[in-house]
Amino acid sequence: MIRCTNVTRTFISGDSEVRALQDVSFEVSDGTLTVLKGRSGSGKTTLINLMGALDEPTSGSIFYDSTDITTLRDTGRDRLRRETIGFMFQSVALVSLMSAYENVDFGLRVAGYPRAERKERVLECLRLVGLASRMKHMPQELSGGEQQRVAIARAIAHKPRVIFADEPTAELDSKTALAVAGIFRDLVDKEHMTIVMSTHDMSLLDIADQVIELENGIRL
Ligand SMILES: Nc1ncnc2c1ncn2[C@@H]1O[C@H](COP(=O)(O)OP(=O)(O)O)[C@@H](O)[C@H]1O
Ligand SMILES: [Mg+2]
Repeated sequence: MIRCTNVTRTFISGDSEVRALQDVSFEVSDGTLTVLKGRSGSGKTTLINLMGALDEPTSGSIFYDSTDITTLRDTGRDRLRRETIGFMFQSVALVSLMSAYENVDFGLRVAGYPRAERKERVLECLRLVGLASRMKHMPQELSGGEQQRVAIARAIAHKPRVIFADEPTAELDSKTALAVAGIFRDLVDKEHMTIVMSTHDMSLLDIADQVIELENGIRL
């Protein structure tokens, strides 16, 4: 279980202060899909960066079970990110000179996954996102939705406890966006993954177990 309690993040730029998040509290149960909803500038990316240990709150706590990750040192945070978390961002960040297979494998190598187990895991993940037949294709030979599915395979490959996806469907047409969101739903239902996804697309809210709505950094 992941729990945010009174999370506040203030950015100082010049002599002005932006309160990107203010006193945000909620829980994410294991094996559920949480959608963070809100307009541009509402604080979604800030919240995902904090929950994913990429940034630290100005005040408040973020618990993974009983561990408050805001108290971890850099090495502890690095380890948490590497072993426990999978990330996906709005723009697909596949390596253009690597095939779909190599992109997923690369993630596993970075995570230090044993060589002997890599091949099977890469294929399993590409199968889970319905792309096993495209494993030799280069990113530019794949559609935007297919590239995002490779990015999902890469994010889940090291079996993270939680996946944070920041507007993963923002650059897709609405039909493809629904299909990608459907893969998240399946991963939660069939693989018992825990996923936190942000979106400003209202049509994706139906698939969520929980919707957290933000407006100007405040949870509604
Ligand atoms: N590094 C930063 N420095 C200053 N302000 C920031 C920074 N990151 C985000 N903000 C501000 O915090 C608010 C929330 O931003 P963000 O979390 O990116 O929203 P969203 O992802 O919902 O579009 C915005 O007003 C944004 O301008
Ligand atoms: Mg954002």
